[in-house]
Amino acid sequence: MEIFVPALKILGIILVVIFLYFFTVTRFAVAVKSFFREPDKEADSLYWLYTNKYLIWLTDNQFVVTVVLLFQYDRLVAKVIEKITPSRSGGRVLQISCAYGNFSEKLAEKCRHIEAGEMVVCDIVGNQLENLKKKLKGCPGKITFAEEDAAKMRFDDNSFDSVVVFFLLHELPYQVKRKALQEAMRVVRPGGKVILAEFHKPTSWIMRLISRAYFSFFEPFALDMWGRFNPSALITSDEKNSWTIEQESFFHDNFQVVSATKGGG
Ligand SMILES: C[S@@+](CC[C@H](N)C(=O)[O-])C[C@H]1O[C@@H](n2cnc3c(N)ncnc32)[C@H](O)[C@@H]1O
Repeated sequence: MEIFVPALKILGIILVVIFLYFFTVTRFAVAVKSFFREPDKEADSLYWLYTNKYLIWLTDNQFVVTVVLLFQYDRLVAKVIEKITPSRSGGRVLQISCAYGNFSEKLAEKCRHIEAGEMVVCDIVGNQLENLKKKLKGCPGKITFAEEDAAKMRFDDNSFDSVVVFFLLHELPYQVKRKALQEAMRVVRPGGKVILAEFHKPTSWIMRLISRAYFSFFEPFALDMWGRFNPSALITSDEKNSWTIEQESFFHDNFQVVSATKGGG
């Protein structure tokens, strides 16, 4: 008992410090930025957590992403990577937005395995690309980095064999989410795939309660993933192309992986 109370206090202090750190580098950061100036490009409205090179270095940690994704990180990465099938030797694979953890390393390995001609990673934040360049140093194969806004990319139509979007959409405002997914659909070639991993509305009430509290504080746009933003529905409503959708849910429906193949290949 004597050790129990101080231990509880220390744990409480650690939790408060973690909360304050994440609150300062996310919601507070955006409030400060908009107080001092109007955001003039999409990246200016992003959290410091994603734009500041020291915070990127501090947060890009396998343990942090594993906890944020409720210890399902490895499983989700493996599922997304498994969905990338060799479409043709020398094909191109696009990763839209950097991801913390070892996702891009795994993707680079897969690209080598399927003999892809090029892996392209784009992100709206230059510091994210710089961080990823360091992580991917030494990975074999051609890897290219491009500073692009996911909602208006400068890539040609039908120019990639696979397009992967790993936990980006929930970060974006509703209309931007729609545009980013439509952009992913535009740049993939007929016969190619758009593969995305995202949050989904959990079936258990306790998980809904905890997740709602977390999202409300840190990622308010993520709650769209529970209702009005349904990636599979948006993809199948495409009037120009037919799509074949495979959707799987994980961990009490808390996560989803969608693999959409563009018709006409
Ligand atoms: C770090 S990821 C999110 C991490 C993810 N939750 C995970 O667990 O790995 C967010 C990334 O999306 C990028 N991003 C945000 N908005 C973007 C946009 N409009 N276009 C391209 N990249 C964007 C950020 O710069 C950042 O690199």
